[in-house]
Amino acid sequence: MQQLSSGEIVKRYRSFFVARNHLALPGSSLVVPGNSTSFIIAGMQPLLPYLRGEVAPLAPRLTALQRCLRTDDVEQVGTSIRQNTAFFMLGNWSIGNYDKRTTIQMALDLLLNHLGLPLEKLWMTVFEGDRELGLSLDDVAAEEWRRLGVPSEHVVPLGAEDNFWTMGGGPGPCGPCSEIFVDRGSELGCGAPDCRPGCSCARFLEVWNLVFMEFEKHEDGSLTSLPQRNIDTGMGLERMACVLQSSDSVYSVDLFQPALERLQALAPRDDGSPQALRARRMIVDHVRAVLLAGLAGVGPGRDGRSSVVRRLIRRAACQGRLLGIDQPFLGSLLQPLVEGHGSLLTQDEQKRVPDLERLVTNDEVMFARVLSSGLRELERVEPNERGIIAGEYLFKLHAEKGFPADLASEILQERGLVVDWSGYQHASADHRIVSRVSVQKHFH
Ligand code: SER
Repeated sequence: MQQLSSGEIVKRYRSFFVARNHLALPGSSLVVPGNSTSFIIAGMQPLLPYLRGEVAPLAPRLTALQRCLRTDDVEQVGTSIRQNTAFFMLGNWSIGNYDKRTTIQMALDLLLNHLGLPLEKLWMTVFEGDRELGLSLDDVAAEEWRRLGVPSEHVVPLGAEDNFWTMGGGPGPCGPCSEIFVDRGSELGCGAPDCRPGCSCARFLEVWNLVFMEFEKHEDGSLTSLPQRNIDTGMGLERMACVLQSSDSVYSVDLFQPALERLQALAPRDDGSPQALRARRMIVDHVRAVLLAGLAGVGPGRDGRSSVVRRLIRRAACQGRLLGIDQPFLGSLLQPLVEGHGSLLTQDEQKRVPDLERLVTNDEVMFARVLSSGLRELERVEPNERGIIAGEYLFKLHAEKGFPADLASEILQERGLVVDWSGYQHASADHRIVSRVSVQKHFH
């Protein structure tokens, strides 16, 4: 297999679709005012008015590289090999212009003939149907993959949970999808006889999702047809780079290499433990998310989106301690990240990085003292006989020392301890402190 840089993957994807009459859009900011989510979470989100038929697009075929940021799976970052907080999503869209078969044909052509993936490494999932939704097996997709030479056993039908795409499970345009997985080798797998796409082990990596967007899902869960049948695809750039650079995870692709090297210089001792590996991955992942949010105008702060950025800074700072770094260091990773991202960041954006570096460092310095004393406290805390930590204790740590309760809970979880959240709520009510948003919701 050819080794391709992230920049080269973007170039090939874009030229492939431009040559097939797609208009290349610049990609929206991570923050779109009035959007239902804090940050853009999928490549199609800025295109919603087109997909819903509310506004006519400039062209019926579109392609873009879109920055996205999601924190709903943030706990998995670093443990899983595939989960970035912020990521780049390549996409091609048809607003009522081409059909499922054409989408599948183009996808396979790009993968085999332009990105150099071998057919035998590819597996496809298709929608197996769902009685509740009143939809049957997507045999058009399955047949098309087989007609193009994908072996039958590599075409896997899966249920609505995996293969009926909705916007974060909520209302909005949706439809059956077909996901493309790359087999990274049985040596990376769990070894289970039925290990295949959909398995949570590291063997099969989903790289591209083709959504056949035909419906609008309503608040009550019912589906109605959209004014036109759309195509919405999303390819995770870091995942594709992981495959095409034979990396062990999305955190070690070229985009992160200079930052990982810098981190290595700051924390040369690596005890090879899973915790240290996770810490390095979390740090580069989170700081990159902070960088992209900062470039969209969102710095660390108390409320809304800014609080998400602050939480990422604090989580990353905490992991730094685990690697033995006791000086503020996160800001110093921004420049290496810029270097790793090359032309994915504009010249203007690159010029703004020193300002961001100051913002990040200030926030980290502010948190450093709280972090030191909180970590010392947490090391000493003892659970009750059932391994549970009193919620009141966490509440006090938060109210008196400013140590975020959800971060404390994560640190305790790493020690196998569980927090009594109802006790936390009681303590909070007793102190007559009404939190505006629950601790967990705050971060999501
Ligand atoms: N909307 C789909 C996704 O986010 C495909 O782009 O996976």
